[in-house]
Amino acid sequence: MSNSYPITEHKFDAIVVGAGGAGLRATMGLATTGLTTACISKVFPTRSHTVAAQGGMSAALGNMGEDNWRWHMYDTIKGSDWLGDQDAIEYMCREAIPSVIELEHFGVPFSRTEEGKIYQRPFGGMTTKFGEGTAQRTCAAADRTGHAILHTLYQQSLKHDANFFIEYFAIDLVMENGECKGVLAWNLADGTLHLFRGHAVILATGGYGRAYFSATSAHTCTGDGNGMVLRAGLPLQDMEFTQFHPTGVYGAGCLITEGVRGEGGFLTNSEGERFMERYAPNAKDLASRDVVSRSMTIEIREGRGVGPNSDHIHLNLQHLGPDVINKRLPGIAETAEIFAGVDVTKDPIPVLPTVHYNMGGIPTNYHGEVVYKDGDDPDKVVPGLFAIGEAACVSVHGANRLGSNSLLDIVVFGRAVAQRCAEIIKPNSSHKDLAKDALDKSLSELDQLRYAKGEFKTAELRLEMQQVMQEHAAVFRTEESLKQGCTKISTTLDKFPQVAVADNGMIWNTDLVETLELRNLLGQAKVSMFSAENRKESRGAHAHEDYPDRDDENWMKHTLTYLSESNDITFDYRPVHMYTLTDECDVIPPKKRVY
Ligand code: FUM
Repeated sequence: MSNSYPITEHKFDAIVVGAGGAGLRATMGLATTGLTTACISKVFPTRSHTVAAQGGMSAALGNMGEDNWRWHMYDTIKGSDWLGDQDAIEYMCREAIPSVIELEHFGVPFSRTEEGKIYQRPFGGMTTKFGEGTAQRTCAAADRTGHAILHTLYQQSLKHDANFFIEYFAIDLVMENGECKGVLAWNLADGTLHLFRGHAVILATGGYGRAYFSATSAHTCTGDGNGMVLRAGLPLQDMEFTQFHPTGVYGAGCLITEGVRGEGGFLTNSEGERFMERYAPNAKDLASRDVVSRSMTIEIREGRGVGPNSDHIHLNLQHLGPDVINKRLPGIAETAEIFAGVDVTKDPIPVLPTVHYNMGGIPTNYHGEVVYKDGDDPDKVVPGLFAIGEAACVSVHGANRLGSNSLLDIVVFGRAVAQRCAEIIKPNSSHKDLAKDALDKSLSELDQLRYAKGEFKTAELRLEMQQVMQEHAAVFRTEESLKQGCTKISTTLDKFPQVAVADNGMIWNTDLVETLELRNLLGQAKVSMFSAENRKESRGAHAHEDYPDRDDENWMKHTLTYLSESNDITFDYRPVHMYTLTDECDVIPPKKRVY
């Protein structure tokens, strides 16, 4: 090793990595239970990507019409294309109601109805009476709901004296005998390295949208927790399922909320036709995201796209009028003006399906405990390791997430993990000493990258990866394109040892940060591409043109994908949980039952 690296050690009961909505809900919950808690974040908490969540958080409050958590559960299972774990989905849909009321009491400034109740808007795939009506279930703070939730949770965490380590980059998990003992992190401001010991390490590190060229995700969404999990020799689950949001701004990729269509906006093609009426006669523009994204892509492929190159679609909201737009959708009016030069009261917004969400991630149960398959036990818990939010695959979203179930997921499972830790950890219990060489491998790899003098710039390899993912793991996939994608992404990953880092410093070395992020992204990109090539069916967001049908007999199972140190892929599988937690779900009419 070129350098020695002094390490500062910290001991807490629980360590949360990531300060988005999931991380902050967990941090706040842990801090209130008397567990000593540290939250480590590579960005200032209120800059986390949750701040960009727009449309809202689902919960069957019934403020704007009849609703029932069982209908929400039914929609979520159906939306997942039967790949979601039904025990976890029951938990999420039931706990949605107290979770959102708690947020209201913590101070989230939700929009209001005339009677002063939380305002709720329709969202895709959310129905009443098991698919018969349209539910108004998505609780909104105008079109800045994530912003409102994130700021409130940060304030609550500070109020409960949680410890924050801000602008610390988490490098690796510290694992011993299959147990997670802590995290190694780098303080970007002063260049020091830190070992955070915890009885629970909770990964709330978000998704890896930046593996793609065009994504609604922030540039920080590099799936660092997923990368650490792969390096720890653990699998990721269902990584073939990437959600494309139908309405990213054409060219820029910024999100235009589904709330626009919830408020009455609609899509049109070059003939001015509301084409969703053809593809989904009942749900129309509020069909689930996989359906709308595929329909838009077909319209463009068949020559009915708009613009000089016929390569995008129009989203119309002019008819809503300035009052509704200013009250309910002020954020997207600004986004459309800045990124598309469009005055939404006069003209449609040019949009295109854009990568938005990773259904796959670190496999967990509904307590947030990380699981893997050990012999005959498909639900074996990894002691000390937890994951929540987009980093995790609980799996409540299965093959396709419904809009507004993500803010819900982060809040419900952030809360659940805090409750679980309070059950299993004794406050202030001691930490056993680690083996002397526990950090050696991570430090040696860090040192190698810091002084890497290869032939490829980080940005070059990143662009290559993003272009391969965009082209080969797209809305529609074919055998040929996926096979080519596997070859290309393997080549890119194999080039990583020849990366070059120009800055060798340890203080605010963004070159090294981006290289560590690229290392995380590349592993996930390879796992995603190979998992997609491996799944020989179409389900949810995985639309395989050579296998156009869902194949429940062979593929109603979760993919577990491992990446070895020499970058080899292996697969295993876990069964989908087709059982519920209680017998209170059997009000679902038998013919509609999906479990
Ligand atoms: O369209 C949106 O506002 C996004 C919401 C979501 O992904 O849940």
